[in-house]
Amino acid sequence: MIGDKKVLFSGMQATGTLTLGNYLGALKNWVTLSDEYECFYSVVDMHSITVRQDPATLRKRARALLTLYIAAGLDPEKNCIYYQSHVSGHAELMWILNCFTYMGELNRMTQFKDKAAKHADNINAGLFTYPVLMAADILLYQADVVPVGIDQMQHLEITRDIAIRFNNIYGDVFTIPEAYIGKTGAKIMSLQDPGKKMSKSDENPNGSIYLMDDPDTVIRKFKRAVTDSVGCVRYSDEQPGIKNLLDIYCACTGKTPAEAEKEFDGRGYGEFKMAVGEAVVDVLKPLQQRVEDLNRDKAYIDGIIRDNARKADYYATKTLRKVQKKVGFPERIR
Ligand code: TRP
Repeated sequence: MIGDKKVLFSGMQATGTLTLGNYLGALKNWVTLSDEYECFYSVVDMHSITVRQDPATLRKRARALLTLYIAAGLDPEKNCIYYQSHVSGHAELMWILNCFTYMGELNRMTQFKDKAAKHADNINAGLFTYPVLMAADILLYQADVVPVGIDQMQHLEITRDIAIRFNNIYGDVFTIPEAYIGKTGAKIMSLQDPGKKMSKSDENPNGSIYLMDDPDTVIRKFKRAVTDSVGCVRYSDEQPGIKNLLDIYCACTGKTPAEAEKEFDGRGYGEFKMAVGEAVVDVLKPLQQRVEDLNRDKAYIDGIIRDNARKADYYATKTLRKVQKKVGFPERIR
């Protein structure tokens, strides 16, 4: 708890270009949580270097992501928006937690197995201990809730296991975090393959809508979106392409699937796809405008980066000192 509020932590990586899936599935929902919780939203750049990155590109993308958090509506005065690499407590707590995490546990992580297969030439120790850094992120702020996608649930589970293990030895040190599964955290699928999640690392750019795509590009991608031969707009698992388009349409307009089905009853897929494209453009346009405005105000963003790093560091250090004392590190002399 901070004051009378529960603490929320989440983070995103600045690798790749954020997609509509990231926005509708995560970022948009984060905005609705900031009144209820004391929120920490990190740009987790330390996680990003588990895979080789071009330094200039990583730096640029990290800044773009941080800006996007704000453009999406997260008030940086209320929400602690910061770079993970600016708060050294993440790495320091991670080291300690490493000593409370078993190789066998990490070996079971499906994301590690996937990434190791994908980057067979660079299976580094950071890729292996990635979940421990994530545990450190969360536990450092004594987070009560963590909004995560289904693909990160296993990492949240191991975070809980590590925290419980630590608490069993040293007493109540860490808050045990819970997953926050949003109500409308729509899982957006690829426009080209509705069996696959819309991903920033998709090789086929037509499958993903990038948040900075211009209107023409957005419309063109929706025109090409994969549908089916059923020929009617229905929200059904048997029509995954149409279902995904309905999810997108509803997330953008606030309508329910039933309302949308009625709206497009008896109308063709072509017309429906155009409407979805336009609804997306209506959401992206103001977002892109805010990004542009923020980019013009370098000093403002710099101030946010500096102040929020300090704020995050304050809470992080509080937990870290407690943990260091528990494990037997000598007290600092001032
Ligand atoms: N691993 C997460 C992802 O790739 C990002 C992340 C890092 C995170 N630390 C976190 C998410 C802590 C939630 C809480 O999506």
